[in-house]
Amino acid sequence: MIDEYSYERLRDIIKARAGIDISCYSKSFIARRLEFRMNSCNIKDYNEYIRLLERSDEIKIFATNLSINVTEFFRDPDVFARFRDLLKGYNNVRIWSVGCASGEEPYTIAIIAKDNGIRCSILASDISKDAIAHVRNGLYSSRSVRNVPKDILEKYFTTTGNGYIVKKEIKDMVTSEVRDVTRSAPTGYFDFIFCRNILIYMDHASKNRIISNICNVLKQNGYLVLGKSEYINDYATLSLSCIDTRAKIYIKNLN
Ligand SMILES: C[S@@+](CC[C@H](N)C(=O)[O-])C[C@H]1O[C@@H](n2cnc3c(N)ncnc32)[C@H](O)[C@@H]1O
Repeated sequence: MIDEYSYERLRDIIKARAGIDISCYSKSFIARRLEFRMNSCNIKDYNEYIRLLERSDEIKIFATNLSINVTEFFRDPDVFARFRDLLKGYNNVRIWSVGCASGEEPYTIAIIAKDNGIRCSILASDISKDAIAHVRNGLYSSRSVRNVPKDILEKYFTTTGNGYIVKKEIKDMVTSEVRDVTRSAPTGYFDFIFCRNILIYMDHASKNRIISNICNVLKQNGYLVLGKSEYINDYATLSLSCIDTRAKIYIKNLN
């Protein structure tokens, strides 16, 4: 196992060279990614690998291998099908996409609401400045849109030589901001909060801080949507009840 001193050096180098702060990620997650890359480079010594990260393009490969920014439009289509059903009955809805990465999740939410004639405003936040710049740019590759039904693609995207651009009517529904959700939540209350594929990377304390920040701004009878591989313990003590175990959707009910 990597010693404390080397781990701190690793953390500082990844922050300085790749702009990623690993301090709230679980150590076992980082250690697994580290060992995978060390094996690929045929390196056995942690310090030798850290020196490589310090001075070569291995840092880019390591950052990509953390895979923490992976996302796509309509990721887990069954979750969005359930979301579409839950939207019925609302006519004005406020939604927070907590770790929105490059924006595919909040724009998927916007498209579904728009396509069902529901007024909706979405706050998209992420800890990464680059991710938020991508959201604001709104340009996506064919890989990102591969799950988007053809009619939806034609209706809500403009095709260019460089990829697919989200149309203004969808873009206008989404406000984006840089925010570390382990530290704070936005003001106001939300009908739906999407917090998908973030908690799995977190250490226990960061995960608890995120859940508490989120629950504080979820409306009574509001819905929390987690990632498919994510779990929260003691959700009843947070006044949450699970309404869909497969799609990982919870409702906040204070009674
Ligand atoms: C795997 S992506 C998930 C994207 C999207 N929610 C989805 O499920 O498709 C995880 C995102 O969480 C962001 N993230 C990690 N730690 C965060 C934090 N403390 N506050 C806000 N966002 C964070 C990462 O920058 C990354 O963009």
